[in-house]
Amino acid sequence: LSVSTAALALFVSPVLAQESCDPGETVVKFSHVVAGTGHPKGDAANLLAKRVNEEMNGKMCMQVFPNSTLYDDDKVMEALLLGDVQLAAPSLAKFEPYTLKYRLFDLPFLFQDLDAVNRFITSDSGKGLLDVMQDSGFQGLGYWSSGLKQFSANKPLVMPEDASGLKYRIQTSDVAEAMIKALGGSAQKLAFNEVYGALQTGVVDGQENTWSNIYTQKFFEVQDGITETNHQLLAYLLVTSTDWLDGLDPDVRDQFLKIVNEVTQNANDNVAAIEKKNRQNIIDAGSKVRELTPEQRQAWVDKMKPVWTQFEGDIGKDLIDAAVASNN
Ligand code: LMR
Repeated sequence: LSVSTAALALFVSPVLAQESCDPGETVVKFSHVVAGTGHPKGDAANLLAKRVNEEMNGKMCMQVFPNSTLYDDDKVMEALLLGDVQLAAPSLAKFEPYTLKYRLFDLPFLFQDLDAVNRFITSDSGKGLLDVMQDSGFQGLGYWSSGLKQFSANKPLVMPEDASGLKYRIQTSDVAEAMIKALGGSAQKLAFNEVYGALQTGVVDGQENTWSNIYTQKFFEVQDGITETNHQLLAYLLVTSTDWLDGLDPDVRDQFLKIVNEVTQNANDNVAAIEKKNRQNIIDAGSKVRELTPEQRQAWVDKMKPVWTQFEGDIGKDLIDAAVASNN
């Protein structure tokens, strides 16, 4: 097992040297869409690869492909089923074609902070949701939370009325669409790698994402500041295909899943610090972060939270109640 040190790769971009795999090793390709480093998902993917490659040398070999270099979040699901990649971590908003249960995680103002998210994803209700796509051929291996989302636009947003009449890029999520409609805006579903261009050219006026995505994708450069709404969770499902997982040698599978669980825990422990750093990076880069008073924030809650009722039937009231209870 060796690490390729192609000089060109070192000069062209700050990508990590790609692991080269030996004959006999089970190759695990992990495709994701965010920055390769300095982002909760990018860092967690690298840690997972590092541990697999060190501890399972000779048995398994993991290669990470960040920044949508292999697939976007739509295509990666097909690629998992075809066996072209073995791991992905799309946000929970991206699974609508396979399950409507994950709409839960998109409900605006559901979780008060990342500690509440952690309590829910480690609860029986949360863990049970890892298995809901088995009939479609997918197995959830763990949740990697990534922070709460903030709004930005090409004009200052302080009150929800400021958001009215604007067009926002959203993920492929009907909950997000309903939320933007409740604000009086219009929503356009776009792949993550198209967002910067859409903001820059005015195809959309605004967006909503975490500090880490706003910083590492440079969205702040083409927006009039960021408003700290903390209105919705961004979390990922580390996902594989049931066929691939079932086909692994049981010892190899056990060792792999043990590492996955430890890295998942570690990733979730580190999110808050990475998010805080990227929030500061945005300020240091000269962009404005607008904090809301409790009254101003409540006005956003009052506008958006009523959309919950539209999705209660898809999600189930029991699950919503369990998630709400994790706030205490
Ligand atoms: C988005 O599309 O905004 C996010 O899902 C991207 C990501 O993976 O963080």
